[in-house]
Amino acid sequence: MKGWPIAVIGVAAAFAWPQNPAGQGMFAGRWVVPPEGDAAFRQVYALEQSSGTVTGRVINTTSEQPIVDVAIADGTLTFATVAGRPPNERRTEYRLRPSGSSMAVTFMRPGRNPETLMATRGSATAGDAPARIELPALHRVPANGLAKTPPMGWNSWNYFRARVDDATVRAIADAMVASGMKASGYTYVNIDDTWEGGRDASGRIQTNRKFPNMKALADYVHSKGLKLGIYSSPGHLTCAGYEGSYGHEEIDAKTFAGWGIDYLKYDWCSAARVYKDDEMQAVYQKMGDALRASGRDIVYSLCQYGRNDVWKWGSDVGGHLWRTTGDISDNWESMTRIGFSQDGLAPYAGPGHWNDPDMLEIGNGGMTGAEYRTHMSLWAMLAAPLLAGNDLRAMSTETAAILTNPDVIAIDQDQVGRQGRRLRSGGTIEVWSRLLSGGKYAIAMFNRGDTPAMIEARWSDLGLSGAHTVHDLWRHRDAGRFEIGYQTQVEPHGVSLIRVQ
Ligand code: GLA
Repeated sequence: MKGWPIAVIGVAAAFAWPQNPAGQGMFAGRWVVPPEGDAAFRQVYALEQSSGTVTGRVINTTSEQPIVDVAIADGTLTFATVAGRPPNERRTEYRLRPSGSSMAVTFMRPGRNPETLMATRGSATAGDAPARIELPALHRVPANGLAKTPPMGWNSWNYFRARVDDATVRAIADAMVASGMKASGYTYVNIDDTWEGGRDASGRIQTNRKFPNMKALADYVHSKGLKLGIYSSPGHLTCAGYEGSYGHEEIDAKTFAGWGIDYLKYDWCSAARVYKDDEMQAVYQKMGDALRASGRDIVYSLCQYGRNDVWKWGSDVGGHLWRTTGDISDNWESMTRIGFSQDGLAPYAGPGHWNDPDMLEIGNGGMTGAEYRTHMSLWAMLAAPLLAGNDLRAMSTETAAILTNPDVIAIDQDQVGRQGRRLRSGGTIEVWSRLLSGGKYAIAMFNRGDTPAMIEARWSDLGLSGAHTVHDLWRHRDAGRFEIGYQTQVEPHGVSLIRVQ
């Protein structure tokens, strides 16, 4: 447009608005940021411009944010968005500058390098959430006998993110066998987000080029005696901006079954742009019904970050496990914040229905060996699903030893399925217990502090009397027989995990 005579712009605007919004200001309209990789969506700016100022929203996959702190200077528009709530709000700043018929966008996220991309003009509805589909009445999806103990396996997200592909999944399946993980009970090889392509004319979901043939991949994984898991969202887009199952629940469940899928993680993501939190139950029930009707045994993993007390209804909608928190990261703060916040959820766990404090980070490099032993011990005490999140092809001996410790896995997988609880805490000390089958107990003595600590567990705290024998599950030895309780020194950020009988 630059350099056109004013009169011509005026005429164009009069006849061509809204396609050519010159008369409305150069920033007005919907600006579409191109998606990354095979994703379907990344971001849209919905902007209005009048009397010298700009208002509008940034539309993301899972949310929309109003723009604030707007300024126009030297032909450049700047604004910010603020996500989250104080004190954890995240501010992103944007700079938009017209470039031919496109818009050069620089966005600056906290802690990341600025990134510049070309946004193109989209339609008047670009980025809008789809029309609402009314939800079915609630009923109880009957249990189907799966997940009698917490699911064990591997998931691609924590380590591979969008880099997961067919060859990687095959190599992970191979490594699961070769490393002894399979022999230790790890079974599910789960593909997380970013496998999705679009849909064909009949609405059937396609894989993208990273996964040329999902059925063949499932056959391969099954040939190793393992099971294959996949991921989708009840929204129109997954969290990474790929095709979701919105309005296609039944055909997707059938497609997954046809491919030979054994496990579905179903992630709320963009459903948040159509439904309210208190409608989640009906949304998740829809896929629960669809999976049951698919004719295949598929473990159903709910992922909606523990909102709306999911533990109270997750099982009713057909779920075998449900995330209880936001995403874990590979660091001590994140892992302990999540793990130690789970006390009180024990009544909701049991055979066929489990609380899921998110996947393991063991072996991803952000924590020490002691910290990863704490992670593994805490998850076992919580009867949590054990989904390794590391690169199984290149595990250290220490990582493999932590993930495959048979005594710790036996706690996690105990038949009774009774989730552990906090016995006591004080300062940086936590003592947790878990009742096991045969009247045994697991006791975990955690030292969250930065210096070694003496920690004691008393039998009377468990309602026990008399002498009991203690087996130390990380030192792999019988510690002896003790009258009153057991006391031991625990390293910083470490744990002493014992079985008492
Ligand atoms: C959400 C989930 C994660 C992962 C990503 C994938 O953040 O909580 O576990 O599945 O989406 O986009």
